[in-house]
Amino acid sequence: MSSPDIEAIERILVVGAGTMGRQIAMSAALAGYTATVQDINADMLAAAGADLGTWAATRVGKGKLDSDAASQALSRLSYTTNLQEAAGSADFVIEAATERLDIKKEIFATLGSYTPAHAVLASNSSTLGSSKVAEASGRAEQVCNMHFFNPALVMKCVEVVRHDLTSDATVAVTLELARRLGKQPVLINHEIPGFVANRLMGAIQREALALADAGAATIEDIDTTARTALGHPMGPFELMDLVGLDVITFIAEATYAETSDPADAPHPRVQALEATGRLGRKSGSGFYDYGQGGH
Ligand code: 3HC
Repeated sequence: MSSPDIEAIERILVVGAGTMGRQIAMSAALAGYTATVQDINADMLAAAGADLGTWAATRVGKGKLDSDAASQALSRLSYTTNLQEAAGSADFVIEAATERLDIKKEIFATLGSYTPAHAVLASNSSTLGSSKVAEASGRAEQVCNMHFFNPALVMKCVEVVRHDLTSDATVAVTLELARRLGKQPVLINHEIPGFVANRLMGAIQREALALADAGAATIEDIDTTARTALGHPMGPFELMDLVGLDVITFIAEATYAETSDPADAPHPRVQALEATGRLGRKSGSGFYDYGQGGH
C-alpha cells in the first residue's frame, strides 16, 4: 500500500449521481480534475448530466462562468454504471451513494479491491461514520468522511472526519483536496453522530419546531426571524425543505439510534408531512408549496 499524495491526484471518482454526487463531481471538474460519476441507475446518470449542463449554461448566461471554462469542465466529466472499471483509474473516491450501510459496505469492498493502492476512499455520508465501512475496504487508514453541504456547488464547508485508524496522510490529502475544490474544510477529530454542522442545524430545527408547536409564531415568522434577526440565509423550515424532509427524518433516526436521546428523535410534524409525500422542494411541497418546478 502506498501513501496518498495530493500531487498524484488527477482522477476523482464520485459514487452516486444524486443531488450531492453530481454537484461534487462538477466542483471537481471545475477545479481541473477528471471526474467520473458512477451510479447503478443509468437514468440517474442521464439526469445528472442534463442537470449539470443546465447549471453550466445558466451560469454562462449570467456571466458568472466563462463559456470555455464551462465546456472544458463538462468535457472532464464522464458517467458510468460500471464501478469496478471506474475504480481502476481513480486516485481519490468520494462515495455519495444511498445512505444504507449494507450498500456502502459493498461499495467500499469493491473500491478496496479495484482502486490503485494510493487512492483515498472518502464517504460523503453525514450519518454513517467511515469506521463502519473502513474494514470492508481493506485499507482502513485511507478511509474517512468528506461531508459536503447542499447545494454542493455553492456551500463552502466540507467536514473531514477521521476515525480511529485514519492516517495523518489521508487527513492531510483530503483537507488539501477540499481546498483545491474551492472549499473551506474543517477537521472533525473523531466520529460523533451528526458531526458538527448537522448537530448545530438539528438544534436550531428542534427549537423552531418547538416554537411552532407552542403556537409562539407561524413557521413563516420563525423563518423570517432567523433570516432578519440572525442573518441566516434561510429559516429553519425553508432549510428543512431544501435538504428534504425524508433526509431530515433519516438523519434524526440515525442520530437517535446512536444517542438514544429523545431530543434527537424524528419530529412528528416532519414525519406527518413526509408520510403524505411532502418531501420539500424536490417534491414541490413540504412546509411550503413551491409549484411545479420544485423551487
Ligand atoms: N444548485 C446549485 N447552485 C445553486 C442552487 C442549487 N440547488 N441553489 C442556488 N444556487 C446558486 C445560485 O445559482 C446562485 O449562484 P450565483 O450567486 O453565483 O448566481 C447562488 O446559489 C445564490 O442563489 P439564489 O440567489 O437563487 O438564492 P439565495 O441567495 O437565497 O441562495 C442558497 C440560495 C445558496 C441555497 C442559500 O439560501 C443558502 O445558503 N441556504 C442555506 C443552505 C444550507 O444551509 N445548506 C446546508 C444544508 S445541511 C446539509 O446539506 C447536510 C446534509 O448532511 C443534510
